[in-house]
Amino acid sequence: MEENPLFRPFELKSLKLKNRIVMAPMTRSFSPDGVPGTNVAEYYSKRAAAEVGLILSEGTVIDRPSSSNDPNIPHFYGQTALAGWQTVINDVHQAGGQMGPQIWHMGVMGNHQSGWLPPTPFEGPSGLLNPDTTNGRTMTESDIADSIAAYGRAAADAKRLGFDCVEIHGAHGYLIDQFFWEGTNQRTDQYGGKTVAERNRYAIEVIEEVRRQVGDDFAVILRLSQFKPQDYTAKLAKNPQEMEAWLQPLADAGVDIFHCSQRRFWEAEFDGSDLNFAGWAKKVTGKASISVGSIGLSGEFMAAFRGESSQPSSLDELLRLMDRGDFDLAAVGRPLLADPHWAEKIRENRTGELKGFSKEALSILV
Ligand SMILES: Cc1cc2nc3c(=O)[nH]c(=O)nc-3n(C[C@H](O)[C@H](O)[C@H](O)COP(=O)(O)O)c2cc1C
Repeated sequence: MEENPLFRPFELKSLKLKNRIVMAPMTRSFSPDGVPGTNVAEYYSKRAAAEVGLILSEGTVIDRPSSSNDPNIPHFYGQTALAGWQTVINDVHQAGGQMGPQIWHMGVMGNHQSGWLPPTPFEGPSGLLNPDTTNGRTMTESDIADSIAAYGRAAADAKRLGFDCVEIHGAHGYLIDQFFWEGTNQRTDQYGGKTVAERNRYAIEVIEEVRRQVGDDFAVILRLSQFKPQDYTAKLAKNPQEMEAWLQPLADAGVDIFHCSQRRFWEAEFDGSDLNFAGWAKKVTGKASISVGSIGLSGEFMAAFRGESSQPSSLDELLRLMDRGDFDLAAVGRPLLADPHWAEKIRENRTGELKGFSKEALSILV
């Protein structure tokens, strides 16, 4: 067996990965009018050619009039955008990689700094951006049904174009997470409720529709976070029992892999155990999981948006947790954004050549 747990192969349904390194989904805003061009295809295929086991695309939005707050974020609907994605996946496969799109509806957003607004108001469970700010409207049952159908169409298109899996974005305070979180879901119908298990209903219906569209053998990943950019201390599940009540129904609805977003992967989720979020997700559901958050870097990603740089850091703790079997895959964001050769350098022990991350990397596609 390969000594380094990051470089052991991984198979699950449609995924046959040469190693455990996942490129984390990262919004780049380089797709004018929602169409990813050949520069985007080149960006992803460079990572595929340089040892990244699985690439998750930047968040790419589903077919709802207000699913995005930025015209340069790619669409995952419409002939022209899907033709762009066809080139992306063909090039990634040509380079020896595997890839899934991260399908996304932002929900209620703050207005983009450019002043651009979608053609209809932002929509969410209760029109709330955070517990005391409204910046959109409350979705009706018909909006909810239409949005679920749009997630399903995007997943079906992912499979039709030849992608290897699909990831549903349920993290970071966006639409699905707005349903999970009591701070933004104040509904009194069947999509609301006092417990996260009750507020699960929207996500369950999305997952069931995605599963119905892609069939049993296509890997479905769900990305989740306890923290919200609106509130770093938010916790949907405050203990292992609540985590099981939250995640098991999502697993039953059709999730194959939980992608558990933390700002720092080494932080324990609950007192009394050093298991992190991905460790608990795997333990309570028996499903595979992905950990993420400052792997190989000294500082976390929300600070990066405020201009903070990070230096390369040791992978020893990550390897210890992976070797112990806490989680299956490790997602890496900023190191791979800044350097297409990050995974190759790790494999070849060229640690002296690692670059770290500085905010200048955000403004170019390399
Ligand atoms: C520029 C940038 C864009 C991001 N966009 C997304 C996104 O579209 N979807 C998502 O789920 N997470 C997004 N994230 C979060 C990353 O996927 C990842 O969880 C985070 O950067 C932590 O990993 P890192 O410490 O290795 O960078 C983004 C992060 C960065 C730095």
